[in-house]
Amino acid sequence: MIKKDKYNVAVVGATGAVGKEMIEVLEERKFPVGTLKLFASERSAGGSLTFRNQDYVVELLQDDVFKGIDIALFSAGEKISIQFAPAAARAGAVVIDNSSAFRMNPEVPLVVPEANPDAAMKNNGIIANPNCSTIQMVVALKPLHDRARIKRIVVTTFQSVSGKGKEAMDELFEQTKSLLSFQEVRAEVFPHQIAFNCLPHIDAFLENAYTKEEMKMVNETRKIFGDDGIGITATTVRVPVYIGHSESVNIETEDNISANEARAILSAAPGVVVYDDPQRNIYPMPVDSAGRDEVFVGRIRADESIPNGLNLWIVADNLRKGAATNAVQIAEILIASR
Ligand SMILES: NC(=O)c1ccc[n+]([C@@H]2O[C@H](COP(=O)([O-])OP(=O)(O)OC[C@H]3O[C@@H](n4cnc5c(N)ncnc54)[C@H](OP(=O)(O)O)[C@@H]3O)[C@@H](O)[C@H]2O)c1
Repeated sequence: MIKKDKYNVAVVGATGAVGKEMIEVLEERKFPVGTLKLFASERSAGGSLTFRNQDYVVELLQDDVFKGIDIALFSAGEKISIQFAPAAARAGAVVIDNSSAFRMNPEVPLVVPEANPDAAMKNNGIIANPNCSTIQMVVALKPLHDRARIKRIVVTTFQSVSGKGKEAMDELFEQTKSLLSFQEVRAEVFPHQIAFNCLPHIDAFLENAYTKEEMKMVNETRKIFGDDGIGITATTVRVPVYIGHSESVNIETEDNISANEARAILSAAPGVVVYDDPQRNIYPMPVDSAGRDEVFVGRIRADESIPNGLNLWIVADNLRKGAATNAVQIAEILIASR
């Protein structure tokens, strides 16, 4: 990719929960877009989406559509990424992929701009965006890791339904309507009723009894920190919230770090906002994070059960920092360095 005034951008999965957010984030951040191409399946091809007050036709995704594209933002799921991302890279685009298809491939950098921006530059045409739950956790933990080296992380997530896409959001809406009008609920996207319920089950169960989502948090965090020695255990839970993932995170550090120092470090950290005044009922909540690009941290307190432990409550908009914003920030790194 050579230095240009404007870059030709493709959004693959443009009609999805993440894809639509990508178009908005490109506009909001004034990304220097030359041509914009929007792709989806035959279900949405022919429809249109708006960018900078102009309508763009959604086109059918095919192998030969990437000629002349500089940056391809993929968010159409793992299968589509496996099928089309290599073709896009061969055509000369840099792919920033939101699926899990390439995240653990040693040839593919896994990038959170606040944590490991330099990794983005060593790519072979594909860069992976981490899982939404991983992104918000590493944004908050990296500055603490740099100061005191984290030895162990115990995390429990409370993940919104938008993390599973637009159909999951519709399912929560329909089930809520049904329950409030005393009708039976139908569960099609989730394995059980999600309205007024919590499911300790995100993605498939693995042989080790964890879910894939839980192991993504373990493996991706180690790759981003470049530290395989961190002990990480995760429990991921789907909750009936539309947008915004919350995480209860306990860390054990090598060096001692007080809650006050952690608060000061995080207040100065890029991309982090500290909301931590519990006496005044101030703490992060998903409804406040929706539509925002920052990661919100609160309930910072010492873990009194161990010498060097801290508890934190970390919240972010999974469609923005957890996906679209992170991807566009990676694209910004690429064009800034040309
Ligand atoms: N939601 C999140 O918080 C989040 C966060 C991080 C990463 N991700 C990842 O981002 C990806 C998309 O997630 P999402 O939540 O946006 O899902 P979604 O709302 O279900 O959207 C899926 C998108 O993919 C398109 N698509 C599906 N099959 C296709 C095909 N055969 N050819 C071309 N396009 C096709 C859909 O187009 P149609 O309109 O034509 O169906 C739609 O635009 C997934 O890999 C997901 O794991 C999601």
